[in-house]
Amino acid sequence: MSNRNKFFHRVAVGAASVALLAAAGCGATTTGGGDGETATASVEEGFTIGLLLPESKTTRYEKFDRPLFEEAVAEICPNCEVSYQNADQDVAKQQSQAEAMLTQGVGVLVLDAVDAEAAGSIVQQAKGQGVPVVAYDRLAQGGVDYYVSFDNKTVGNVQGEALIAGMEAAGTAGEGEVVMINGSPTDPNAADFKAGAHEILDGQVEIGAEYDTADWSPDRAQQQMEQAITSIGAEEISGVYSANDGMAGGVIAALKSAGVEELPPITGQDAELAGIQRIISGDQYMTVYKAIQPEAEIAAAMAVAAATGEEYEGSADNPLTESTDGEGNTVPSVLIEPVAVTAENVEDTVISDGFYSIEEICTDAYADTDLCKEAGDS
Ligand code: BGC
Repeated sequence: MSNRNKFFHRVAVGAASVALLAAAGCGATTTGGGDGETATASVEEGFTIGLLLPESKTTRYEKFDRPLFEEAVAEICPNCEVSYQNADQDVAKQQSQAEAMLTQGVGVLVLDAVDAEAAGSIVQQAKGQGVPVVAYDRLAQGGVDYYVSFDNKTVGNVQGEALIAGMEAAGTAGEGEVVMINGSPTDPNAADFKAGAHEILDGQVEIGAEYDTADWSPDRAQQQMEQAITSIGAEEISGVYSANDGMAGGVIAALKSAGVEELPPITGQDAELAGIQRIISGDQYMTVYKAIQPEAEIAAAMAVAAATGEEYEGSADNPLTESTDGEGNTVPSVLIEPVAVTAENVEDTVISDGFYSIEEICTDAYADTDLCKEAGDS
């Protein structure tokens, strides 16, 4: 099956399992976490689903996660409402947003934690009130009911492999030093990305400097890159592992302001529009495309199932597996496969999947790139 067909298949199956769940009615009474009060929720009557996202500097949350989640809920539970809050990377803010939702009487929380450990108290509080919690993208502690994300170790592997391929293509394999800019230490995904990248890079390249980046901040990433340039020397840097696209933007700004004209291969993640544009113009080597539509659909299906006392069973393409949170709780999970995107396969991935249109990518500043010239010719 081609990559392209795989995507359509995956999304179609995701939608089908959601449809089945809706058809089943899903009306039930749930007794929640046992120690809390009994909560009742049914698809027929509808209920409120609290969606808590962690930050807004990374574009995925407002552009994809929130709207796709709301669409998926509207599809499978038309009488449900989504109550949405973004924590802007602030742990205390997320805590009070969650408390307000619990007071408001939500039937279920879908939580993408700023800090997975601190979020344990939100999970405990919800459970105490009989409100189930679905961990979205990042695995919060506290014993959540379900978890949906990508295979985050694989994300790191894919980034590491692409970085080596990029260095080989640039003729710099085995030369110079690699800088690693990892994500936030409070995000368990960042630890997986980092471990997955090390699995590939260690022994293959020399790592000259490595940083964890609080809040996944692109500005901090830029400062860290400036430090690395000062200590290693710009001409000695043969590759940069950046854990996501937002930070890759900071890395590229630092290299450019240090006068580097031929940029070394730089990784990213999220297939942000700016990341894809940097890839087609040659500033960034790769990104990781994570198809957020199935992630959001599965989260919606898990949330509706948990709130109505049903079991979420997974689908053939995205079966249920198990994850272990930072405290050792076992959580039924769906982990979707990520995909590497370079200039070679932008068309077969993010464009053919409808994530972006050619028009969105090919703004005036990118009109001279091969992709946009070809699109203009056809
Ligand atoms: C997500 C990434 C995102 C990062 C920063 C991670 O948990 O998986 O997609 O780039 O957080 O928000």
